[in-house]
Amino acid sequence: MHREVDLSLARRLKIEVTPSARSRSDFATDVLEGLSAKPKRLSCKYFYDERGSELFEDICNLPEYYLTRTEQAILELFAPEMARYSNGNMTLVELGSGSSLKTRLLIEALLAAQGSLHYLPVDISESMMVEVAKELIEEYADLHITAYVAEYNEGLRKIAEEGLGQKMVLFLGSNIGNFDFHETVDFLRNVRRQLSSDDVVLLGADMQKDLSVLEAAYNDSKNVTAEFNLNLLRRINRDLGGEFDLNSFSHVALYNVRECRIEMYLRSERDQEVHIRELDKTFHFKDGETIHTENSYKYSKEQIVELCSQSGFDVARSWEDEKGYFSLNLLTPA
Ligand code: TRP
Repeated sequence: MHREVDLSLARRLKIEVTPSARSRSDFATDVLEGLSAKPKRLSCKYFYDERGSELFEDICNLPEYYLTRTEQAILELFAPEMARYSNGNMTLVELGSGSSLKTRLLIEALLAAQGSLHYLPVDISESMMVEVAKELIEEYADLHITAYVAEYNEGLRKIAEEGLGQKMVLFLGSNIGNFDFHETVDFLRNVRRQLSSDDVVLLGADMQKDLSVLEAAYNDSKNVTAEFNLNLLRRINRDLGGEFDLNSFSHVALYNVRECRIEMYLRSERDQEVHIRELDKTFHFKDGETIHTENSYKYSKEQIVELCSQSGFDVARSWEDEKGYFSLNLLTPA
């Protein structure tokens, strides 16, 4: 009996792991390059190992981190309106799906509108993805999932090859904010190339606002954000035989008003040498020297329109919360 239930669930779930999603050599190459650069940097895509993904979930639940809650509230109000862009058989693609918590609102709205739904999440965190996908198919009987453990572009390319019908591509949260203007245009142009004229994109964007609100969101009082940032060094220690002393680095997040972005760093609290075995190299850190780990851009409405028009999209609709803290933008091919 149990076996039968499991099989029926399994028929609705497929998991595709791309080879690069498991590659340890990319990580080694990127760490070597980043820590040899001046100023030093590490790529934010490496935050999301198992522990990092859990810590990010904790960040999303922090009182100071208004982003997730605000976006959730917008979806609670407007997901049914968004689902009206469906031609009756729309497929839901999500880049950087994480816990898919907010996505549930769109899944439910599309199920209500269409009766059934094929959901294709793309994420680099395999552990979280498998767990979430299983939960979702158990919960929604008319849902099919093909989950891609992959980076955005690679996952999207695979999905385009599938020749699905009309698609809605989700890029929620502050994901877009981690690219600079140029990278965003490149990214959106690439998305545009993979889409047909009746497909749509739903793009989340965190808006410019009072500096104190922004800085608090990235410097929480429980230090979860600090733990999350430091987890990058922990990952280097574990996966590459690094010898970072986590107590002698600290988390720094500052709003750069001119560039309209939160800048995240790890700062060395003393003069120190750190050996990384798999790179066969020792790196020197001066007292106060920083490693740049992420930017999180904040937008104006005009900037969103500009980004979209430069990448071949029209902003067909925008939804915001009452305070104008966050916006969800429905893009159609221009
Ligand atoms: N993409 C998230 C954001 O820009 C990631 C994030 C939240 C983050 N808090 C952080 C990254 C702290 C590094 C450090 O909002």
